[in-house]
Amino acid sequence: MIILKSGRDLDAMRAACEVAGAVLEAVAAFVRPGLTTRQVDEFAAAQIKSRGARSAFLGYRKYPCHTCLSVNDEVVHGLANERELRFGDIVSVDVGVYYRGFIGDTARTVAVGGCGVAAQRLMDVTEQALHLGIAAALPDNRVTDISRAIQHHVESNGFSVVREFVGHGVGRTMHEEPQVPNFVDRKMNQRLRPGTTIAIEPMVNAGRPEVKILKDGWTVVTQDGSLSAHFEHTVLVTGGEPEILTWPETRLSKLKVA
Ligand code: MF3
Ligand code: CO
Ligand code: CO
Repeated sequence: MIILKSGRDLDAMRAACEVAGAVLEAVAAFVRPGLTTRQVDEFAAAQIKSRGARSAFLGYRKYPCHTCLSVNDEVVHGLANERELRFGDIVSVDVGVYYRGFIGDTARTVAVGGCGVAAQRLMDVTEQALHLGIAAALPDNRVTDISRAIQHHVESNGFSVVREFVGHGVGRTMHEEPQVPNFVDRKMNQRLRPGTTIAIEPMVNAGRPEVKILKDGWTVVTQDGSLSAHFEHTVLVTGGEPEILTWPETRLSKLKVA
């Protein structure tokens, strides 16, 4: 069953997503060569706390960190540790916060200082795929319309989508119905109704789509060692255009000026 949001619940959901978006923005700007991923996670924890929220990840199925920080060939669920970020690395930052009873979930891959053209193209195509998926989150469309838009853009650019992990409904809990795959799965034929809140999150590999999980039980890496990128927004299906709940004002106003 898909839980539709409205009224006070939707206000709280918007607030939670705004916090998640602002935290991600701050963490993305903080990332620089020489920091350990532990330091980045601690910075994120302080950002979440200062906004009166708490991490939706810490303790989720015993997850041990405040954020997911996935470097280079790490796809998602990377654990913070003593690894130092180096110029040219790419790091996927995933932030989930719990605030006013709801969860906001958002992610972005950023270059550490700068990166090569191949890595930049992977990030660009993944972010474009996210926005094409969001554009398909229209009332009376189906989940597969989102999946198709993402998969088509990724594969026509020569990259591949991860199959084992998918986007999802989000609300009072992190993972609600429906599942939102980044590939067409004909079983995912639910209609999108106004009030549906979903996390759309393409995970894109530069090489083959296959992944494996490291012995830490969490970190997902590409089997072929190729780079991977991840962009995610929590989105509200409305009666018209979708509303990107985790898009901070700062980025919006920057875009308006541009
Ligand atoms: N935020 C991830 C997602 O986008 C879920 C992370 S679960 C955790 O769905 F336990 F790893 F934090
Ligand atoms: Co996430
Ligand atoms: Co998510």
